[in-house]
Amino acid sequence: MSQSRILLVVGGGIAAYKALELVRLLRKASIEVQPVLTSAGAHFVTPLSLAALAETPVRSELLSLTEEARMGHIELSRSADLVVVAPATADLMAKARHGLADDLASTLLLATDKPVLMAPAMNVRMWLHPATQRNAARLLEDGVRFVGPDDGAMACGEFGPGRMAEPAAIFAAIQSLLDRAAGPLAGRKAIVTAGPTAEPIDPVRVLTNRSSGKQGYALAAALQALGAEVTLVSGPTALAAPPGVVRLEVETAEEMLGACRSALPADLAVCVAAVSDWRPHAPARSKLKKAPDQEAPSLRLVQTPDILAALSAPGPQRPRLVIGFAAETEALETNMAAKRARKGCDWIVGNDVSQPGIMGGDANRVVIADAQGMERWPSLPKVEVARRLAARMAAALTEEPEP
Ligand SMILES: Cc1cc2nc3c(=O)[nH]c(=O)nc-3n(C[C@H](O)[C@H](O)[C@H](O)COP(=O)(O)O)c2cc1C
Repeated sequence: MSQSRILLVVGGGIAAYKALELVRLLRKASIEVQPVLTSAGAHFVTPLSLAALAETPVRSELLSLTEEARMGHIELSRSADLVVVAPATADLMAKARHGLADDLASTLLLATDKPVLMAPAMNVRMWLHPATQRNAARLLEDGVRFVGPDDGAMACGEFGPGRMAEPAAIFAAIQSLLDRAAGPLAGRKAIVTAGPTAEPIDPVRVLTNRSSGKQGYALAAALQALGAEVTLVSGPTALAAPPGVVRLEVETAEEMLGACRSALPADLAVCVAAVSDWRPHAPARSKLKKAPDQEAPSLRLVQTPDILAALSAPGPQRPRLVIGFAAETEALETNMAAKRARKGCDWIVGNDVSQPGIMGGDANRVVIADAQGMERWPSLPKVEVARRLAARMAAALTEEPEP
C-alpha cells in the first residue's frame, strides 16, 4: 500500500479537527495525502496544521492563477487512488448529490473518476432531515461509499446519529477500499443470488423453504472484498446487506430472474439462492378461509423459471463464469454432475442438506464439480467457504483467457 494516494477534502464542521488525526494515521501507513480545505473548513482547522501533518501544501482555491495554468482541478481530481471527504458536511453532501461545482472541493467531487468515501458529520437533526437522508441515499446509488456517522454525544449538546466516525474507523474503511482497488476482481462485475424465494398461495401465505441466505451473503461479501462490484439478488432474509454490495430484494423466482437479467452484463454469476421449483398455479386474490365441513383446498403447482439455466444459456450476455449451488438430500455427487450437464453452468457447488446444521447453520461442507472433476472440502464456517470459493473464482477468471 506504500504508493497509495488519498485526496482528502475537509469540510466546514466541528469534526474537522479529527481530520488531522486521520492525516497522521494515513502518513504513518506511508499513504500520501493531498488535503483540500473548503473555505468554511478553514474556520475550523488551519491550512498550516493540515499541511504540516500531510507534508504537502493544502489546496483550497478553484479560481487560482497559479494552480490553474494546467487545469489543476482536473489533474488533482484524478491524481489520487481514492477521494475521502471528512468531515462530509450536510452542505458538501447536498452539493455532491446535485452535481454543483462552485468551489474546489465540489468541483473535484464532480470531476473525479476515482471512488469517493464520505464520513458524514453533523447535528442529529441535520442528519435525520429528509433532505439529508435523500441526499445520502442518492449518493449511495451513485456509488459513493460511506463510513459512519456514529451515534453519540455531539459538540452541540445533542445526542444521536451524526457524529463523524472515529479516525481509526475511517482509516480502516480507506484501507479496505484501497485493498479492493488492488484486488484480483477489481473492475469485474458479479451477480450473487441468495436466500429463499416466496411464492404466494394467497395474499398472506407463501410457499418457501428453510434457506437463511447466510452462504450467499457471505459469498457476496467475499467477492466484494476481492474488488468485485457485486449485485446481490436476495429473497426474503433477516440479514443486513454487506457494506458496499448493491442488494436487489425480490420475493418470487420470476422476480429473481428479472433482477438477475437487469444486473447483466456481468463477469460472474453465482446462484446460491434456494429457488422454489414450483409455485401455486393461480394464487388466490383473497385469503383462503377454512370452514368446518369443507375439504382442505389442494394446490396445483407449476414450475418456476430456471434461473441457473437461463444465466448459463450461451449468448453474448452469458457471464464468463456461471456457478450453481445444489442442495441435495441423497446421491449428492451423482445429482451434482447431472445438474451441471443439464443446466450448462461451469461449476456446481453441492452440499448435503440432509446433514444436520447446514440449512440455516453457520458451517457448510461442500463438494465442487467442474470440468476437471470433483473437489471435496472439509466442514468449514460458511464465511471461510465463501472466502475460499471467492479466491477460486478469482483464479479461474484471471487464468482463463478472455474469449
Ligand atoms: C460552529 C459551527 C459548527 C458547524 N458544524 C457543522 C457540522 O458539524 N456539520 C455540518 O454539516 N455543518 C456544520 N456547520 C455549518 C457549515 O459550516 C456550513 O453549512 C458550511 O457552509 C459548510 O461548508 P462546506 O460545504 O465547505 O463544508 C457548522 C457551522 C458552525 C458555525
